[in-house]
Amino acid sequence: MTTKKLRYGLIGAGSNAERKHLSNYASLPNVEVVAICDINIESARRLAGKYGIKGVYSNYMEMLNNEELDLVSVCTPNFLHAEISIHALLSSVNVHCEKPLAMNANEAKRIVEARNKSGKKLMVGLNNRFTNEAVFLKRFIDEGHLGDIYHAKAGWKRRSGIPGRGTWFTNKEYSGGGVMIDLGVHYLDLALFLMGNPEPHYITGSTYQNFDQTTTRNRNGYKGDPNGVFNVEDSAIGFIGLENKSTVDFEFSWASNIENDMTYIELLGSKGGASIINGELKIYSEILDTCIDITPKLNSNIKLLNEFEHFVHAILYNEELIPPAEHGVYMMDIIDHFYEASRLQKPVLFDESNKKTLVLS
Ligand SMILES: NC(=O)c1ccc[n+]([C@@H]2O[C@H](COP(=O)([O-])OP(=O)(O)OC[C@H]3O[C@@H](n4cnc5c(N)ncnc54)[C@H](O)[C@@H]3O)[C@@H](O)[C@H]2O)c1
Repeated sequence: MTTKKLRYGLIGAGSNAERKHLSNYASLPNVEVVAICDINIESARRLAGKYGIKGVYSNYMEMLNNEELDLVSVCTPNFLHAEISIHALLSSVNVHCEKPLAMNANEAKRIVEARNKSGKKLMVGLNNRFTNEAVFLKRFIDEGHLGDIYHAKAGWKRRSGIPGRGTWFTNKEYSGGGVMIDLGVHYLDLALFLMGNPEPHYITGSTYQNFDQTTTRNRNGYKGDPNGVFNVEDSAIGFIGLENKSTVDFEFSWASNIENDMTYIELLGSKGGASIINGELKIYSEILDTCIDITPKLNSNIKLLNEFEHFVHAILYNEELIPPAEHGVYMMDIIDHFYEASRLQKPVLFDESNKKTLVLS
């Protein structure tokens, strides 16, 4: 048992940073929060005051130079994930980078190369893998209870959920894409993770941009800029064929004309099925020639697996990560191919050897 405390720093003190990273890392006994950085120094100062953090910076390189950190969270807009993560890794600091790992697969591969060179750990913030429902279901699947999973459905649909029309989220130069890279990355990752991350074979689908002229479809609490850029999709719908013949269909929207927001994963297996709809897990099977439904009673007060404890433990005891950073590259590659299929309006094949895009004629 080590008594070492990891020296932690946060980069990017925006809306996700405190709720997810800072509040969690600050609560761990083997972590000492020593520094915070935001290009907008006032944002950094506000959280520094609240959490008693001594080191306050507007430049992340200066923070990495001065503070001898063991671990940082990267919670900046997507276009900075690669630059900052690579710099931190090559400064011998472990990195917990928010999703998406990068803007595209090439950037994601460069981050993983930096991790390999540094020998440090790199985790992508795919928090939906850490819900009790997902952790339980993954164990249930790995023990063979669903048999072979041959199809999955994944979706996250919002009625009014644009995370700030005209902010960096809706500007491709800073986000890399719209709802697919923002929400799709979570639920497609979860579906494919539960299926065992099979190799993709082909992908097809379309992106849509129907709600770019209004700020009424902004998510509650997210300010929009009516004059800002909106050049990304607000809906993404597609279908993936995997090498093992299983399939996935997906639909994601920041804004759509539906009654209620919803999230869902549905898995069809040869021995059983499962769904997590709006957070509720159900399992469907057959016993004594009778169809049965199972609703596991998961205790929401007890976390089966905590994302932040898991990362700290993996650093201290050199353990394998969930998710391995390679899954971040896998996901970015799928998203790149999806955007290409939508642009071409044709299914696109994944090439085995170097993932070169081949268009089906
Ligand atoms: N896992 C989740 O559930 C979840 C939820 C929301 C956002 N996110 C991800 O978190 C990241 C941040 O999203 P957000 O909603 O907090 O955005 P945000 O715009 O609220 O915050 C980004 C912060 O980064 C700061 N920043 C910009 N450039 C910087 C630089 N060079 N150095 C230091 N700080 C800089 C900004 O000033 C801002 O405070 C995104 O990648 C997003 O996809 C994840």
